[in-house]
Amino acid sequence: MGDHLYISAADADAPLVAQLRQQIQQAGFVVWDSRGSSSGQVPQAIQACWALLVIASPHSIAATERHSEWTLALRSDKPLVPLVIGAVMLPPLLLRRRPLTASDPNRIDMPALLQRLTWLRSPRGEMQALRDRLGDLERSLARGQTNKADVFRAEIDRVQRQIGMREQGLAVPVPPPATPAPVPVTPTPAPIELVPPPVAQPAAQRHEDWGEAPDVQTFYGRQDELATLAQWITADRCRLVSLLGIGGMGKTTLATKIARTHAADFAYVVWRSLRNAPPLNDLLGQCIVFLSNQRETDLPDESGQRMSILLRYLQQQRCLLILDNAETILRGGDQAGRYREGYEGYGDLIRRVGEQAHQSLLLLTSREVPDGYERFDGVVARTLPLTGVSRSEGQVILHDKALSGSEAEWGDLINRYSGNPLALKLTSEFIREAYGGAIGDFLKEGEAILGEVRSHRGGHWLRPSSTYGGAR
Ligand SMILES: Nc1ncnc2c1ncn2[C@@H]1O[C@H](COP(=O)(O)OP(=O)(O)OP(=O)(O)O)[C@@H](O)[C@H]1O
Ligand SMILES: [Mg+2]
Repeated sequence: MGDHLYISAADADAPLVAQLRQQIQQAGFVVWDSRGSSSGQVPQAIQACWALLVIASPHSIAATERHSEWTLALRSDKPLVPLVIGAVMLPPLLLRRRPLTASDPNRIDMPALLQRLTWLRSPRGEMQALRDRLGDLERSLARGQTNKADVFRAEIDRVQRQIGMREQGLAVPVPPPATPAPVPVTPTPAPIELVPPPVAQPAAQRHEDWGEAPDVQTFYGRQDELATLAQWITADRCRLVSLLGIGGMGKTTLATKIARTHAADFAYVVWRSLRNAPPLNDLLGQCIVFLSNQRETDLPDESGQRMSILLRYLQQQRCLLILDNAETILRGGDQAGRYREGYEGYGDLIRRVGEQAHQSLLLLTSREVPDGYERFDGVVARTLPLTGVSRSEGQVILHDKALSGSEAEWGDLINRYSGNPLALKLTSEFIREAYGGAIGDFLKEGEAILGEVRSHRGGHWLRPSSTYGGAR
């Protein structure tokens, strides 16, 4: 027994396991599954495996013995590959392991599965497994299990040391030293909860700096966008996500909503607006001081060096960094996307965050696509173009504006403003003041009034500067 892939599955999924086992073996991997073995062999087989393939079917999710197998594998720093069959509610720990999905057992994407297994055997795959484990431990600690805090901290230290050792190995491709590095003494890890309670951690214990982020208590709709972003953040573990759209489309609001929703998944959250175009060095300095718990304050002047320090923190712990209004540091107009003079360093920051390996996320909002974005392959860096809200969403957003109108009039109003929430909010105030809230009366006045509203409000939301527009 040893150097094998362990398949963890419910007995009821035996036919599927047999089929998978055969195909995985044909690809050159040694496979172990519990059929025909005594239950006493299971812990040993898990300790000796290099990864656990979790067949997450309704049967296995319901079976407590399977949960113990996952827990044991996690405690032993083994990578887990969840293969979801059909509609099951995955425990968050498995959800964070980038599950592969199949609507039924006959539709498994075998090339994708084999590719994932091959990657896991690579040094970078092993590193990712350690980072996932570190993320779990940090989250457990952050949930405030104070009686076990020491144990978790010791575990976190141990995994961090392992990551450091592996990182050195990755950076310098020389053979490992003949004498093995001393194994740090660690206490027995505390049991891992597979399904953490849905209680948010008390704000005082979290490392969050929300800067000027708006209040999103009155956030409505955008369910598709929220689901897409949740998938990118949680399952796909993207490193760079950008929300793009014209002014007033709701980028800041959506970024705040998704960041608030997922804040507890991160050890640190930092929100910064670039509206006043802060020099890069200042921004880097603020982030480093915060992410180091104020320990790192004597910083180099050179922004490249500061970036390296920041990247180190983004590697060590899972951080969420939100930069709002990135268009402020871009030139706009004919030179849309290019960085303003003196702000080119931001381009390096975005490039390094997108290209280097780390476990954090940079969430950007911008009216323009920053130069250099095309270099990313869409795996770790994604872009969500934000278009207008639908008629029903628009109606809900304006529900407290005391407007009245038929369904057709509502639709017409929302279409005229391409579903732009800011334009709709400002216009509805005008409709209320000038027409007692009657949408139909306002619409009858036609373009003359629309022009008046535009000039009255500066018309900034309707600037034809971008391709990201249009109601849904
Ligand atoms: N989903 C939503 N629910 C409720 N209100 C929303 C929603 N989306 C946007 N709004 C409202 O629309 C207005 C504009 O939104 P926001 O400031 O997020 O736009 P933006 O795209 O960031 O604009 P800018 O490019 O000018 O920064 C705000 O008043 C916000 O509260
Ligand atoms: Mg904004």
